[in-house]
Amino acid sequence: MTKKILVTCALPYSNGDIHLGHILEHIYADIWVRYQRLIGNEVYFICADDSHGTAILLKSIEININPYIMIENILYDHKNDFLKFNIFHDFYYKTHSKYNYFFLKYLIKKCYKKNIIFNKNILQFYDYNKNIFLPDRYVMGVCPKCFSKNQYGDNCIICGSIYNSLNLINPISLISNKKPILKYSNHLFLDLNFLKGKIFNWINNINLQKNVFNQLFIWLNKDLINWNISRDSPYFGFKIPSKFIKDKYFYVWFDALLGYISTFYKFCKVKNNCLFNKFWFSDSNYELYHFIGKDILYFHGILWPAILDILNFRKPTNLIVHGHVLINNYKMSKSYKNFISVKKWLKYYDSDSLRYYFASLLSNNINDINLSLKEFVNKINSDIVNKFINISSRISRLLEIKFNNILSKKLWNEDFYNFFVKRFKIISNYYSNFNYYKVIIEINFLIDLVNKCITDNKPWIWLNSFKKINYLHMFCTTILNIFKIISIYLIPIIPNIINNIEIFLNTKLNWKNFSKPLLNHKILKYENIYNRIKLYTLK
Ligand code: MSP
Ligand code: ZN
Repeated sequence: MTKKILVTCALPYSNGDIHLGHILEHIYADIWVRYQRLIGNEVYFICADDSHGTAILLKSIEININPYIMIENILYDHKNDFLKFNIFHDFYYKTHSKYNYFFLKYLIKKCYKKNIIFNKNILQFYDYNKNIFLPDRYVMGVCPKCFSKNQYGDNCIICGSIYNSLNLINPISLISNKKPILKYSNHLFLDLNFLKGKIFNWINNINLQKNVFNQLFIWLNKDLINWNISRDSPYFGFKIPSKFIKDKYFYVWFDALLGYISTFYKFCKVKNNCLFNKFWFSDSNYELYHFIGKDILYFHGILWPAILDILNFRKPTNLIVHGHVLINNYKMSKSYKNFISVKKWLKYYDSDSLRYYFASLLSNNINDINLSLKEFVNKINSDIVNKFINISSRISRLLEIKFNNILSKKLWNEDFYNFFVKRFKIISNYYSNFNYYKVIIEINFLIDLVNKCITDNKPWIWLNSFKKINYLHMFCTTILNIFKIISIYLIPIIPNIINNIEIFLNTKLNWKNFSKPLLNHKILKYENIYNRIKLYTLK
């Protein structure tokens, strides 16, 4: 039976370029989406820009563009960057939309009805040089626990403790580099503790990665901190209707999560379909998967199911959480100068090579993923060029010289061919469980077998033997059909290369009827399917 599945990636902020961290997440999801479609499931893959927050406001001030115009420009840019990696969302939208505001107001109403929302006057850091309240990420100081210098307002990366920014020692505003003052401000809070039981229930009944489950379990075993969902002006976001509170905005994360709902709502409207209720209402039996980085687990594992419960909507089928991209073992960051945007990457390399490399490192866990350029170049040249593509170039030459590029009517060794066909199940399983690195290991094992078979049989020595010529024809046909099977296994990972292979084999590759060999079929003259890559220093 075909499943109906909605897949999302986390919504990138509209304050900068799409970078390799975002791309990793989208490749993680895109491979799975392509796989699910190949096996016949109905999948909707959506994403959006997260349009709000202080960082976006500050960026628009820095580049002196109206923030409303800036987020539209960035939206256009983000969509294009994803397309360049063959990541085709069914719909890519934004959180600054009337639909999102609609769901936000609906949610707030529900919160009041349930009596879980309250006002509180709190002290906060204030930068009086720039007249702005400072979010935690904009304050740095000495960790109150381990006394490490240069730690952000919310947590210490040295000792890992999480604290209230007011406890930082010698705080400094990152906006003006001056010492901030303390100022009172009235804020809106949500008390979500009453939902702990339901969230527990949810994490117990889905198939979370082990570390993810453990982390959520730890958080849920403590009291949930009341969630401050408002921010002071100046801010860029949805204004809080004044009957609730004066001159404040909703916190970006409060409307960001709703972006999943409103984006899908808009998609259904544009496509004029009636899938919305079927996917989101509490009785839905369709599936919902969120691909996210480990840094935003609290939002998706605690706050999101709480919001969905308050709305009386369904909860996710699963969260698929990944680690961070490191570049040569360092965290990718603008300040380390090792930051790689999509635009920078594509100046030096193509998209399939990175899709393949990331796939070879991705599994169903939250370990960080290290991009070592040296290893990357070696892997692509060795796996794809020297081993995989080499099969087709070795064989196609023989087919061209002797057989006018027409395949034989029969296979050489059906058992050998069927051995490759039978690996379908195990590869399918790896894809289904997000263990792409195992797909790559298995495929390399198969490729090695084929190359060994060619080397052992030395088919070129039959070229001038009148007796063996039929044998040679069937041999080449079989190897090329095995090459086709392996290509089919790689469809979700390297779409551009697959395209070139389809042209060369003069056929469409698909998982349906994939085991049927091409016989008595004309292929095209071999042209380069993929070229060697070089090691560059990315600037
Ligand atoms: N806007 C929020 C998400 C809101 S979802 C309702 C956000 N945006 S982000 O642009 O900072 O990150 C978007 C996604 O990219 C997150 O899942 C995040 O984990 C991921 N990555 C951002 N940098 C990353 C790396 N260096 N490596 C891997 N993924 C990381 O968070
Ligand atoms: Zn510390």
